[in-house]
Amino acid sequence: MAGILPTLASQLIVFFLVSSFCIILVSGEEEEHVFGRALDRKLLGLKKEKLSHFRFYFHDIVSGQNPTAVQVVPAPSNASATFFGLVRMFDNPLTLGPKLSSKTVGKAQGFYASAAQEEIAFLMVMNFAFTEGKYNGSTLSILGRNNGGSSRVREMPVIGGSRLFRFARGYAQATTHSLELKTGDAIIEYNVYVFHY
Ligand SMILES: *[C@@H]1O[C@H](CO)[C@@H](O)[C@H](O)[C@H]1NC(C)=O
Ligand SMILES: *[C@@H]1O[C@H](CO)[C@@H](O)[C@H](O)[C@H]1NC(C)=O
Repeated sequence: MAGILPTLASQLIVFFLVSSFCIILVSGEEEEHVFGRALDRKLLGLKKEKLSHFRFYFHDIVSGQNPTAVQVVPAPSNASATFFGLVRMFDNPLTLGPKLSSKTVGKAQGFYASAAQEEIAFLMVMNFAFTEGKYNGSTLSILGRNNGGSSRVREMPVIGGSRLFRFARGYAQATTHSLELKTGDAIIEYNVYVFHY
């Protein structure tokens, strides 16, 4: 008996050592594949949230040799007078002043779709891809309703952004600067108010 006990004890010790080693291995494995965890915002370099205002002009060029907005889905021929169903894709220049020749600050890329049957109102889905100064390479994403037919100021939510605009939220206000009735070309002033870091 006296001889067996120490052997049992040593076997137990070995068992616990091995099993705890296995637990360490398993938990080590799990740590490498954590799905979600709380993060200190300092680790992302997030400082104080700030509010910025941007103003620029959006050139919706639908006519001529080099349109920047093209129809990709026509409204059905028997559609309402609101062009319900029409979709136009655009890659529109954004400039500092209202003239197309003024400094380019980026592009507005996306589409607008006529989404109302009883008035002219568009669903706007677009990114502002900036190229100006420190904002070059940063984007803001807009998703909203543009009731150009009835409102002087149209307001659309800023739902996010990238690079300097990570965690962005805010709103964009669009007002028509000029509209050529003959061609449909329009210059729209945008004022964008956005919280970001
Ligand atoms: C438009 O015309 C098509 C084909 O004639 C028809 O099926 C459809 O119901 C019409 N739509 C409307 C809104 O009148
Ligand atoms: C913006 O960044 C791109 C890529 O780094 C560069 O090629 C381009 O010249 C920059 N544009 C401006 C206006 O600084």
